[in-house]
Amino acid sequence: MRIGGDFDYDSNGMGYAAQRRPDPRIAAIIHRALGDARTVLNVGAGTGSYEPENRHVLALEPSAVMRSQRRPGAAPAIRGVAEALPFDDQSIDAVMAVMTVHQWPDLAKGLGELRRVARGPVVIVAGDGPALPRFWLNDYAPELIAAEQRRYPPIEAIAAALGQGAQVSTIPIPIDCTDGITEAFYARPERLLDPAVRRAQSSWGFVGPEVEPRFVATLSADLASGRWEERYGAWRERPSFDGALRLIVGHGASA
Ligand SMILES: C[S@@+](CC[C@H](N)C(=O)[O-])C[C@H]1O[C@@H](n2cnc3c(N)ncnc32)[C@H](O)[C@@H]1O
Repeated sequence: MRIGGDFDYDSNGMGYAAQRRPDPRIAAIIHRALGDARTVLNVGAGTGSYEPENRHVLALEPSAVMRSQRRPGAAPAIRGVAEALPFDDQSIDAVMAVMTVHQWPDLAKGLGELRRVARGPVVIVAGDGPALPRFWLNDYAPELIAAEQRRYPPIEAIAAALGQGAQVSTIPIPIDCTDGITEAFYARPERLLDPAVRRAQSSWGFVGPEVEPRFVATLSADLASGRWEERYGAWRERPSFDGALRLIVGHGASA
């Protein structure tokens, strides 16, 4: 049964763990934001990416397929959704939610629940829709970028829901980012031609069936002819890319 989200990970989630390996540089940013929390709840936890290893982690994830791919040694994940957290008020030091809020049917309720159960930081990683067209992918698959823009809630709305003083910052994507989001391949366009890489990016499920084959044909041709190199070759030299990934840090409702 599907119990949460705009994308059906129970049907499409296999292969996620292999392609979406947590990136250590992004992990360091998230873990710093968790402060000195000893207990951490990961909401929309998926396979366990970015869960800190040196703290007590509680994980919550609606998809059975995602839960079945939890990393070895990761805390087992409870079945549930952000909008109804099975925890008492202010019972957990810090709460994190990484690349998941765009899938929640009721964002305000979910964020309210995160604040309700948190004693300290509420740490969100999310995509900023208006920043998405900075990526050259917009020239090859504008439908995909437009679909993502429709899915991503405004960063300001997330920050406002996290209360006064919530901080927003850009998470730079490293050139060799191990977490296979689309922007991870800004300097490695060939990797986006691999169907397994695209299967772990839910955005392809939100465009018409003609978009993916056209994208593959056009990008392949441009890579073969040198056209991609001419237009975007400089991207291969950028050590990191300030794309659409944002860190939003707020506090529990008591703060
Ligand atoms: C792109 S994955 C991210 C997983 C993990 N946080 C990571 O960084 O790899 C999004 C996850 O959000 C989960 N999800 C969807 N709707 C949800 C909801 N309403 N409450 C909690 N999690 C949800 C999905 O099942 C999926 O595992």
